[in-house]
Amino acid sequence: MSGNDAITILGVFVADAAFRTARRPRPGETVLGESFALGPGGKGSNQAVAAGRLGARVRFVTRLGDDAFADLAERTWREAGVEPVVGRDPASATGAACILVDVASADNAIVICPGAGGELAPADVDAAAEVIVGASVFMTQLEQPVAAAARGLAIARGAGVTTILNPAPAVEVDDALLALADVVTPNEAEAAALTGVGVGGLDDARRAAAVLLARGAGRVVLTLGAGGALVQGPDRSEHVPAFAVERVVDTTGAGDAFNGGLAVALARGADPLAAARFGCRVAAVAVTRPGTAAAMPWADEVADAPT
Ligand code: RIB
Repeated sequence: MSGNDAITILGVFVADAAFRTARRPRPGETVLGESFALGPGGKGSNQAVAAGRLGARVRFVTRLGDDAFADLAERTWREAGVEPVVGRDPASATGAACILVDVASADNAIVICPGAGGELAPADVDAAAEVIVGASVFMTQLEQPVAAAARGLAIARGAGVTTILNPAPAVEVDDALLALADVVTPNEAEAAALTGVGVGGLDDARRAAAVLLARGAGRVVLTLGAGGALVQGPDRSEHVPAFAVERVVDTTGAGDAFNGGLAVALARGADPLAAARFGCRVAAVAVTRPGTAAAMPWADEVADAPT
């Protein structure tokens, strides 16, 4: 582990109820699925697990209920070496996500109810300020309220900590939020929602990234699924191809794997292009396994890890 790879992540944990099915049901229809698994999920928690398994020093700021899903969260973080900065709220319930994975295409459709994590408030973030200013990278998403994400980014920015905003799921955000992020990491759908530019290929991605830069983002790392990632700053735009994968089993959480890898590489001093390449490397392992947090690779499973 490098001496300065402390990463603080703000976000949500939920339990993922994942159903693998040959076909997703139409409205009013019931289909028999092929398999079911209940496991740890939530974008922020998945990213923390990815970074923790890669050997970085990771703290995860969130809220949980006081229930069996919260126990699952704590077990998951312990195994990944993630240090939780967590409030347990007996008056609330830990959230859950329903994930339908199409067996043939390995793609997914998700409904998430963030539960206790969805109640994260700026005051919770203020209470965690010490671990935010002590990190070299701070990362958040948008499964908890935007106000909490904004407070975390502002605290980190004020302390000179590198900030990553993974704007997932896509919700309306103002330019001031984007301007607090050194790196904004949407996928194609999120980039389209944030910019109004439909993203169907690299040229569209460049146009969408330009809009996000104009809105204040320091740099855009736009993930393109099997197309890799686009890294675009004010002065240059570069494409990182995806790594070849023998068999894609489940793409759920691939973006979280990417963001976890990106954060680790940036914390260890990699430049944004090399960090995006490492993110693609981590995601390429994750998509070969079912599940989200459970699919994240350990350091010895990923070649060329920055140290
Ligand atoms: O990015 C994948 C995650 O999105 C899942 O784990 C699910 O919980 C939703 O938050």
